[in-house]
Amino acid sequence: MKVLVVGGGGREHALVWRLAQCKRVDEIFCAPGNAGIAELAQCVDINPLDFEALLEFVKYNWVDLTIVGPEEPLARGLADRFQKEGRKVFGPTSEGARLEASKVFSKDFMKRWGIPTAEYRVFTSCTHAEEYVRLKGTPIVIKADGLAAGKGVFVAQSFQEAQEALRLIMKERAFGEAGQRVVLEECLEGEEASFMAFTDGKDILPMVSSQDHKRVFDGDQGPNTGGMGAYSPAPVVSPEVEARIMQEVMLPFLRGLRQERIPYRGVIYAGLMIKDGRPKVLEFNCRFGDPEAQAVLPRLQTDLFEVALATAEGRLGEIKELQWRPEAAVCVVMASGGDPGKYDKGKPITGLQEAQAIRDVVVFHAGTAFNDTQVVTAGGRVLGVTALGSTVAEAKARAYRAVELIHFQGAHYRRDIADRAIHRPE
Ligand code: AMP
Ligand code: GLY
Repeated sequence: MKVLVVGGGGREHALVWRLAQCKRVDEIFCAPGNAGIAELAQCVDINPLDFEALLEFVKYNWVDLTIVGPEEPLARGLADRFQKEGRKVFGPTSEGARLEASKVFSKDFMKRWGIPTAEYRVFTSCTHAEEYVRLKGTPIVIKADGLAAGKGVFVAQSFQEAQEALRLIMKERAFGEAGQRVVLEECLEGEEASFMAFTDGKDILPMVSSQDHKRVFDGDQGPNTGGMGAYSPAPVVSPEVEARIMQEVMLPFLRGLRQERIPYRGVIYAGLMIKDGRPKVLEFNCRFGDPEAQAVLPRLQTDLFEVALATAEGRLGEIKELQWRPEAAVCVVMASGGDPGKYDKGKPITGLQEAQAIRDVVVFHAGTAFNDTQVVTAGGRVLGVTALGSTVAEAKARAYRAVELIHFQGAHYRRDIADRAIHRPE
Protein backbone atom coordinates (compact mmCIF):
# COMPACT_ATOMS: atom_id res chain seq x y z
CA MET A 1 0.00 0.00 0.00
CA LYS A 2 1.09 3.55 -0.68
CA VAL A 3 0.52 6.36 1.76
CA LEU A 4 0.89 10.11 1.40
CA VAL A 5 1.41 12.14 4.58
CA VAL A 6 0.64 15.84 4.20
CA GLY A 7 2.77 18.22 6.29
CA GLY A 8 6.39 18.62 7.24
CA GLY A 9 6.73 18.99 10.99
CA GLY A 10 7.56 16.82 13.97
CA ARG A 11 4.08 15.34 14.07
CA GLU A 12 4.38 14.27 10.44
CA HIS A 13 7.81 12.74 11.10
CA ALA A 14 6.27 10.72 13.95
CA LEU A 15 3.46 9.58 11.62
CA VAL A 16 5.88 8.62 8.85
CA TRP A 17 8.19 6.85 11.32
CA ARG A 18 5.31 4.78 12.67
CA LEU A 19 3.90 4.06 9.18
CA ALA A 20 7.32 2.85 8.06
CA GLN A 21 6.94 0.03 10.60
CA CYS A 22 3.50 -1.04 9.36
CA LYS A 23 3.18 -4.42 7.63
CA ARG A 24 1.15 -3.42 4.60
CA VAL A 25 2.87 -0.12 3.90
CA ASP A 26 5.21 -0.43 0.90
CA GLU A 27 5.84 3.17 0.07
CA ILE A 28 5.47 6.48 1.89
CA PHE A 29 5.38 9.93 0.35
CA CYS A 30 5.39 13.16 2.31
CA ALA A 31 4.46 16.64 1.09
CA PRO A 32 6.60 18.58 1.74
CA GLY A 33 8.40 16.62 4.53
CA ASN A 34 11.73 17.61 6.07
CA ALA A 35 15.29 16.30 6.36
CA GLY A 36 14.38 13.59 8.89
CA ILE A 37 11.31 12.43 7.00
CA ALA A 38 13.43 12.13 3.86
CA GLU A 39 15.22 9.16 5.44
CA LEU A 40 11.97 7.16 5.57
CA ALA A 41 9.77 8.59 2.85
CA GLN A 42 9.97 10.19 -0.53
CA CYS A 43 9.53 13.90 0.06
CA VAL A 44 7.60 15.71 -2.64
CA ASP A 45 7.76 19.44 -2.96
CA ILE A 46 4.03 20.20 -2.97
CA ASN A 47 2.44 22.84 -0.77
CA PRO A 48 -0.15 21.23 1.57
CA LEU A 49 -2.65 23.86 0.43
CA ASP A 50 -2.25 23.06 -3.27
CA PHE A 51 -5.05 20.48 -3.38
CA GLU A 52 -5.02 20.07 -7.15
CA ALA A 53 -1.31 19.27 -7.21
CA LEU A 54 -1.75 16.85 -4.31
CA LEU A 55 -4.65 15.10 -6.06
CA GLU A 56 -2.70 14.86 -9.26
CA PHE A 57 0.18 13.30 -7.35
CA VAL A 58 -2.10 10.82 -5.59
CA LYS A 59 -3.70 9.74 -8.86
CA TYR A 60 -0.48 9.48 -10.79
CA ASN A 61 1.28 7.50 -8.04
CA TRP A 62 -1.66 5.26 -7.10
CA VAL A 63 -1.63 6.41 -3.48
CA ASP A 64 -4.08 4.35 -1.39
CA LEU A 65 -4.42 6.61 1.63
CA THR A 66 -3.65 10.25 2.38
CA ILE A 67 -3.07 11.22 6.02
CA VAL A 68 -3.27 14.92 6.78
CA GLY A 69 -1.14 16.32 9.63
CA PRO A 70 -1.90 20.04 10.00
CA GLU A 71 -5.22 21.82 10.47
CA GLU A 72 -5.05 24.38 7.72
CA PRO A 73 -5.48 22.05 4.72
CA LEU A 74 -8.34 20.33 6.55
CA ALA A 75 -10.05 23.63 7.39
CA ARG A 76 -9.71 24.68 3.77
CA GLY A 77 -11.33 21.50 2.49
CA LEU A 78 -8.61 19.04 1.49
CA ALA A 79 -10.69 16.06 2.65
CA ASP A 80 -13.81 17.38 0.87
CA ARG A 81 -11.91 17.69 -2.39
CA PHE A 82 -10.24 14.27 -2.07
CA GLN A 83 -13.45 12.48 -1.15
CA LYS A 84 -15.22 14.02 -4.12
CA GLU A 85 -12.61 12.34 -6.30
CA GLY A 86 -13.10 9.04 -4.50
CA ARG A 87 -9.77 9.25 -2.67
CA LYS A 88 -9.32 7.86 0.82
CA VAL A 89 -8.27 10.47 3.31
CA PHE A 90 -7.58 10.49 7.03
CA GLY A 91 -8.70 13.85 8.41
CA PRO A 92 -12.13 15.50 8.65
CA THR A 93 -13.87 17.54 5.98
CA SER A 94 -13.96 21.33 6.37
CA GLU A 95 -17.23 21.10 8.26
CA GLY A 96 -15.70 18.87 10.92
CA ALA A 97 -12.52 20.94 10.96
CA ARG A 98 -14.59 23.98 11.99
CA LEU A 99 -14.42 22.58 15.50
CA GLU A 100 -10.84 23.83 15.42
CA ALA A 101 -11.01 26.54 12.77
CA SER A 102 -13.74 28.56 14.48
CA LYS A 103 -13.67 28.99 18.24
CA VAL A 104 -17.21 30.40 18.04
CA PHE A 105 -18.50 27.32 16.19
CA SER A 106 -16.64 25.07 18.60
CA LYS A 107 -17.99 26.76 21.73
CA ASP A 108 -21.54 26.80 20.36
CA PHE A 109 -21.23 23.10 19.45
CA MET A 110 -20.08 22.31 23.00
CA LYS A 111 -22.97 24.25 24.43
CA ARG A 112 -25.49 22.48 22.19
CA TRP A 113 -24.27 19.06 23.26
CA GLY A 114 -23.67 19.74 26.93
CA ILE A 115 -19.90 19.35 26.74
CA PRO A 116 -18.32 21.03 29.80
CA THR A 117 -16.38 24.15 28.86
CA ALA A 118 -15.68 27.67 30.17
CA GLU A 119 -18.53 30.17 30.17
CA TYR A 120 -18.20 32.51 27.17
CA ARG A 121 -19.54 35.35 25.05
CA VAL A 122 -18.88 36.21 21.42
CA PHE A 123 -18.15 39.77 20.24
CA THR A 124 -17.72 41.46 16.89
CA SER A 125 -17.25 44.90 18.43
CA CYS A 126 -14.10 45.84 20.28
CA THR A 127 -15.98 48.39 22.41
CA HIS A 128 -18.58 45.85 23.51
CA ALA A 129 -15.85 43.34 24.24
CA GLU A 130 -14.08 45.89 26.45
CA GLU A 131 -17.31 46.63 28.28
CA TYR A 132 -17.70 42.93 28.94
CA VAL A 133 -14.17 42.74 30.35
CA ARG A 134 -15.04 45.64 32.70
CA LEU A 135 -18.17 43.80 33.76
CA LYS A 136 -16.55 40.41 34.32
CA GLY A 137 -13.18 41.57 35.59
CA THR A 138 -9.85 39.81 35.09
CA PRO A 139 -8.28 37.34 34.64
CA ILE A 140 -10.22 36.71 31.45
CA VAL A 141 -9.36 34.73 28.33
CA ILE A 142 -9.53 36.34 24.89
CA LYS A 143 -9.51 34.21 21.75
CA ALA A 144 -9.47 35.16 18.09
CA ASP A 145 -12.24 33.19 16.37
CA GLY A 146 -10.22 31.72 13.50
CA LEU A 147 -6.97 29.82 13.02
CA ALA A 148 -3.95 31.64 14.43
CA ALA A 149 -1.29 28.91 14.64
CA GLY A 150 -1.82 28.58 18.39
CA LYS A 151 -1.04 32.25 18.95
CA GLY A 152 -4.52 33.79 19.03
CA VAL A 153 -5.28 33.11 22.70
CA PHE A 154 -4.50 35.57 25.49
CA VAL A 155 -4.96 35.03 29.18
CA ALA A 156 -5.30 38.67 30.31
CA GLN A 157 -4.42 39.35 33.93
CA SER A 158 -5.43 43.02 33.87
CA PHE A 159 -7.81 45.28 32.00
CA GLN A 160 -4.84 46.78 30.14
CA GLU A 161 -3.71 43.35 28.98
CA ALA A 162 -7.22 42.56 27.81
CA GLN A 163 -7.44 45.87 25.97
CA GLU A 164 -4.08 45.22 24.33
CA ALA A 165 -5.14 41.71 23.20
CA LEU A 166 -8.43 43.01 21.79
CA ARG A 167 -6.60 45.76 19.93
CA LEU A 168 -4.11 43.28 18.49
CA ILE A 169 -6.80 40.83 17.38
CA MET A 170 -9.62 43.14 16.30
CA LYS A 171 -7.98 46.42 15.28
CA GLU A 172 -4.51 45.48 14.08
CA ARG A 173 -5.85 42.19 12.73
CA ALA A 174 -2.62 40.47 13.77
CA PHE A 175 -4.27 37.17 12.80
CA GLY A 176 -6.11 38.52 9.76
CA GLU A 177 -9.71 37.45 9.25
CA ALA A 178 -9.42 35.25 12.34
CA GLY A 179 -9.90 38.46 14.32
CA GLN A 180 -13.33 39.41 12.97
CA ARG A 181 -14.90 37.89 16.05
CA VAL A 182 -13.54 37.16 19.49
CA VAL A 183 -14.57 34.76 22.19
CA LEU A 184 -14.21 36.07 25.73
CA GLU A 185 -14.25 33.34 28.28
CA GLU A 186 -13.97 32.60 31.92
CA CYS A 187 -10.44 31.82 33.02
CA LEU A 188 -10.34 28.24 34.22
CA GLU A 189 -7.97 26.90 36.83
CA GLY A 190 -6.60 23.42 37.11
CA GLU A 191 -4.17 21.23 35.24
CA GLU A 192 -4.13 20.92 31.46
CA ALA A 193 -4.03 17.65 29.55
CA SER A 194 -4.41 16.60 25.94
CA PHE A 195 -6.72 13.77 25.01
CA MET A 196 -6.85 12.46 21.46
CA ALA A 197 -9.03 9.80 19.88
CA PHE A 198 -9.53 8.23 16.47
CA THR A 199 -13.06 8.53 15.17
CA ASP A 200 -14.94 7.80 11.96
CA GLY A 201 -18.04 9.60 13.19
CA LYS A 202 -19.61 6.32 14.33
CA ASP A 203 -17.08 4.86 16.72
CA ILE A 204 -14.39 6.41 18.81
CA LEU A 205 -11.11 4.87 20.00
CA PRO A 206 -9.25 6.82 22.67
CA MET A 207 -5.49 7.20 22.69
CA VAL A 208 -3.33 7.41 25.80
CA SER A 209 -3.29 10.82 27.49
CA SER A 210 -0.53 13.38 27.21
CA GLN A 211 0.44 16.83 28.37
CA ASP A 212 1.85 19.66 26.29
CA HIS A 213 4.12 22.51 27.48
CA LYS A 214 2.93 25.58 25.61
CA ARG A 215 4.98 28.35 27.21
CA VAL A 216 8.41 29.06 25.84
CA PHE A 217 10.38 29.14 29.13
CA ASP A 218 10.82 26.88 32.14
CA GLY A 219 8.22 27.13 34.86
CA ASP A 220 5.55 27.97 32.24
CA GLN A 221 6.89 31.49 31.73
CA GLY A 222 6.86 33.61 28.58
CA PRO A 223 4.53 33.59 25.58
CA ASN A 224 2.66 30.58 24.22
CA THR A 225 4.33 28.59 21.45
CA GLY A 226 3.19 25.70 19.29
CA GLY A 227 4.45 23.44 22.09
CA MET A 228 7.88 23.02 23.71
CA GLY A 229 7.53 19.39 24.73
CA ALA A 230 5.09 16.73 25.78
CA TYR A 231 4.90 13.55 27.75
CA SER A 232 2.57 10.60 27.99
CA PRO A 233 0.75 9.41 30.03
CA ALA A 234 -0.45 12.46 32.00
CA PRO A 235 -1.05 11.35 35.60
CA VAL A 236 -3.83 13.93 35.97
CA VAL A 237 -5.82 11.73 33.58
CA SER A 238 -6.45 8.93 36.05
CA PRO A 239 -8.68 6.04 34.96
CA GLU A 240 -11.63 7.82 36.63
CA VAL A 241 -10.87 11.08 34.82
CA GLU A 242 -10.50 9.20 31.54
CA ALA A 243 -13.91 7.61 32.05
CA ARG A 244 -15.37 11.07 32.62
CA ILE A 245 -13.67 12.45 29.50
CA MET A 246 -15.22 9.64 27.46
CA GLN A 247 -18.68 10.07 29.01
CA GLU A 248 -18.82 13.84 29.23
CA VAL A 249 -16.74 14.95 26.25
CA MET A 250 -16.11 12.27 23.64
CA LEU A 251 -19.50 10.57 23.54
CA PRO A 252 -21.47 13.85 23.47
CA PHE A 253 -19.06 15.03 20.74
CA LEU A 254 -19.90 11.90 18.71
CA ARG A 255 -23.61 12.36 19.35
CA GLY A 256 -23.33 15.96 18.18
CA LEU A 257 -21.56 14.91 14.98
CA ARG A 258 -24.24 12.37 14.19
CA GLN A 259 -27.19 14.62 14.95
CA GLU A 260 -25.75 17.54 13.03
CA ARG A 261 -24.69 15.22 10.20
CA ILE A 262 -21.09 16.38 10.31
CA PRO A 263 -18.87 13.79 8.61
CA TYR A 264 -15.67 13.21 10.58
CA ARG A 265 -12.92 10.70 9.88
CA GLY A 266 -9.66 11.36 11.63
CA VAL A 267 -8.42 12.47 15.03
CA ILE A 268 -10.35 14.53 17.54
CA TYR A 269 -8.10 16.25 20.05
CA ALA A 270 -9.54 17.77 23.20
CA GLY A 271 -7.39 20.27 25.08
CA LEU A 272 -8.67 19.95 28.63
CA MET A 273 -8.48 21.73 31.94
CA ILE A 274 -8.93 19.31 34.81
CA LYS A 275 -9.85 20.41 38.29
CA ASP A 276 -10.87 18.13 41.15
CA GLY A 277 -11.19 15.29 38.66
CA ARG A 278 -13.61 17.24 36.44
CA PRO A 279 -12.61 17.87 32.81
CA LYS A 280 -13.58 20.99 30.87
CA VAL A 281 -12.73 21.51 27.21
CA LEU A 282 -10.43 24.45 26.40
CA GLU A 283 -10.38 23.67 22.71
CA PHE A 284 -10.98 21.02 20.10
CA ASN A 285 -8.42 20.32 17.40
CA CYS A 286 -9.19 18.31 14.29
CA ARG A 287 -5.83 16.51 14.07
CA PHE A 288 -2.99 15.03 16.09
CA GLY A 289 -1.34 17.44 18.52
CA ASP A 290 2.19 18.56 17.84
CA PRO A 291 4.26 17.69 19.92
CA GLU A 292 1.75 15.33 21.58
CA ALA A 293 1.97 12.97 18.57
CA GLN A 294 5.73 12.68 19.13
CA ALA A 295 5.06 11.43 22.68
CA VAL A 296 1.96 9.32 22.01
CA LEU A 297 2.73 7.57 18.70
CA PRO A 298 5.98 5.94 19.94
CA ARG A 299 3.79 4.17 22.52
CA LEU A 300 1.29 2.86 19.96
CA GLN A 301 1.64 -0.85 19.31
CA THR A 302 -1.39 -1.35 17.08
CA ASP A 303 -0.58 -0.98 13.38
CA LEU A 304 -1.13 2.72 12.66
CA PHE A 305 -1.86 2.17 8.99
CA GLU A 306 -4.67 -0.29 9.76
CA VAL A 307 -6.23 2.14 12.24
CA ALA A 308 -5.92 5.07 9.84
CA LEU A 309 -7.34 3.08 6.92
CA ALA A 310 -10.24 1.77 9.01
CA THR A 311 -10.95 5.36 10.11
CA ALA A 312 -10.83 6.67 6.54
CA GLU A 313 -13.10 3.85 5.34
CA GLY A 314 -15.62 4.35 8.14
CA ARG A 315 -15.09 0.92 9.69
CA LEU A 316 -13.25 1.87 12.86
CA GLY A 317 -15.74 -0.31 14.77
CA GLU A 318 -13.80 -3.35 13.50
CA ILE A 319 -10.90 -2.35 15.76
CA LYS A 320 -11.94 -3.00 19.31
CA GLU A 321 -9.14 -1.31 21.15
CA LEU A 322 -5.65 0.01 20.69
CA GLN A 323 -2.57 -1.61 22.18
CA TRP A 324 0.00 0.60 23.89
CA ARG A 325 3.48 0.10 25.24
CA PRO A 326 3.42 0.43 29.02
CA GLU A 327 6.48 2.70 29.07
CA ALA A 328 6.18 6.45 29.46
CA ALA A 329 7.36 8.80 26.73
CA VAL A 330 8.89 12.26 26.99
CA CYS A 331 9.44 14.55 23.99
CA VAL A 332 11.67 17.61 24.36
CA VAL A 333 11.38 20.20 21.60
CA MET A 334 14.57 21.96 20.51
CA ALA A 335 13.73 25.32 18.96
CA SER A 336 15.59 28.12 17.23
CA GLY A 337 16.48 30.88 19.69
CA GLY A 338 13.98 33.72 19.37
CA ASP A 339 11.01 31.50 18.50
CA PRO A 340 8.04 32.23 18.73
CA GLY A 341 9.39 35.63 17.52
CA LYS A 342 12.16 36.18 14.95
CA TYR A 343 14.85 33.53 14.55
CA ASP A 344 17.64 32.54 12.18
CA LYS A 345 17.57 29.63 9.76
CA GLY A 346 20.30 27.59 8.08
CA LYS A 347 22.28 26.72 11.23
CA PRO A 348 24.07 23.35 10.93
CA ILE A 349 22.86 20.67 13.35
CA THR A 350 25.35 18.19 14.81
CA GLY A 351 25.05 15.17 17.08
CA LEU A 352 21.91 13.68 15.52
CA GLN A 353 23.48 10.25 14.96
CA GLU A 354 24.89 10.11 18.48
CA ALA A 355 21.54 11.05 20.00
CA GLN A 356 19.67 8.48 17.90
CA ALA A 357 22.10 5.79 18.99
CA ILE A 358 20.77 5.87 22.55
CA ARG A 359 18.37 2.99 23.11
CA ASP A 360 14.69 3.97 23.06
CA VAL A 361 15.41 7.45 21.69
CA VAL A 362 13.95 8.79 18.44
CA VAL A 363 14.80 12.22 17.08
CA PHE A 364 11.86 13.64 15.18
CA HIS A 365 12.66 16.47 12.81
CA ALA A 366 10.40 19.52 12.53
CA GLY A 367 11.99 22.59 10.94
CA THR A 368 15.03 20.99 9.30
CA ALA A 369 16.35 20.88 5.76
CA PHE A 370 19.32 19.51 3.82
CA ASN A 371 21.88 22.05 2.78
CA ASP A 372 24.30 20.24 0.45
CA THR A 373 25.67 17.65 2.82
CA GLN A 374 24.41 18.64 6.22
CA VAL A 375 21.17 18.99 8.11
CA VAL A 376 20.39 22.61 8.99
CA THR A 377 17.67 24.44 10.90
CA ALA A 378 14.74 25.64 8.82
CA GLY A 379 12.01 26.60 11.29
CA GLY A 380 11.04 27.70 14.79
CA ARG A 381 10.63 24.26 16.24
CA VAL A 382 13.60 22.30 14.93
CA LEU A 383 13.55 18.87 16.56
CA GLY A 384 11.47 16.79 18.96
CA VAL A 385 13.63 14.37 20.90
CA THR A 386 11.53 11.53 22.29
CA ALA A 387 12.62 8.86 24.73
CA LEU A 388 10.77 5.98 26.31
CA GLY A 389 11.42 4.83 29.87
CA SER A 390 9.87 2.60 32.48
CA THR A 391 8.86 5.76 34.36
CA VAL A 392 8.37 9.36 33.24
CA ALA A 393 11.52 10.28 35.19
CA GLU A 394 13.56 7.67 33.33
CA ALA A 395 12.16 8.77 29.98
CA LYS A 396 12.95 12.38 30.85
CA ALA A 397 16.55 11.61 31.84
CA ARG A 398 17.07 9.67 28.63
CA ALA A 399 15.50 12.37 26.45
CA TYR A 400 17.74 15.06 27.93
CA ARG A 401 20.81 12.84 27.56
CA ALA A 402 20.03 12.78 23.84
CA VAL A 403 19.21 16.51 23.70
CA GLU A 404 22.60 17.36 25.21
CA LEU A 405 24.36 15.58 22.36
CA ILE A 406 22.65 17.72 19.74
CA HIS A 407 23.96 21.18 18.89
CA PHE A 408 23.02 24.09 16.68
CA GLN A 409 23.66 27.77 17.11
CA GLY A 410 20.98 29.45 19.22
CA ALA A 411 19.31 26.18 20.25
CA HIS A 412 16.68 26.72 22.91
CA TYR A 413 14.80 24.11 24.87
CA ARG A 414 13.00 23.84 28.15
CA ARG A 415 14.68 21.85 30.88
CA ASP A 416 11.57 21.02 32.84
CA ILE A 417 9.52 18.95 30.41
CA ALA A 418 7.51 16.34 32.35
CA ASP A 419 8.50 17.74 35.76
CA ARG A 420 4.86 18.20 36.58
CA ALA A 421 4.39 14.44 36.35
CA ILE A 422 7.60 13.67 38.20
CA HIS A 423 7.16 16.10 41.11
CA ARG A 424 3.49 15.50 41.54
CA PRO A 425 2.08 16.02 45.03
CA GLU A 426 0.32 12.84 46.18
P1 AMP B 1 -6.50 27.08 23.20
O1 AMP B 1 -5.80 27.29 21.89
O2 AMP B 1 -7.92 27.52 23.18
O3 AMP B 1 -6.29 25.74 23.81
O4 AMP B 1 -5.72 28.05 24.20
C1 AMP B 1 -4.32 28.01 24.34
C2 AMP B 1 -3.95 27.99 25.79
O5 AMP B 1 -4.53 29.10 26.49
C3 AMP B 1 -4.46 26.77 26.53
O6 AMP B 1 -3.61 25.68 26.39
C4 AMP B 1 -4.50 27.30 27.96
O7 AMP B 1 -3.21 27.29 28.52
C5 AMP B 1 -4.93 28.72 27.77
N1 AMP B 1 -6.39 28.81 27.89
C6 AMP B 1 -7.29 28.74 26.90
N2 AMP B 1 -8.54 28.87 27.38
C7 AMP B 1 -8.44 29.03 28.71
C8 AMP B 1 -9.38 29.23 29.76
N3 AMP B 1 -10.68 29.30 29.53
N4 AMP B 1 -8.89 29.35 31.01
C9 AMP B 1 -7.58 29.30 31.25
N5 AMP B 1 -6.64 29.13 30.31
C10 AMP B 1 -7.05 28.99 29.04
N1 GLY C 1 0.27 21.02 21.01
C1 GLY C 1 -0.91 21.74 20.78
C2 GLY C 1 -1.45 21.60 19.44
O1 GLY C 1 -1.06 20.76 18.67
O2 GLY C 1 -2.35 22.35 19.11
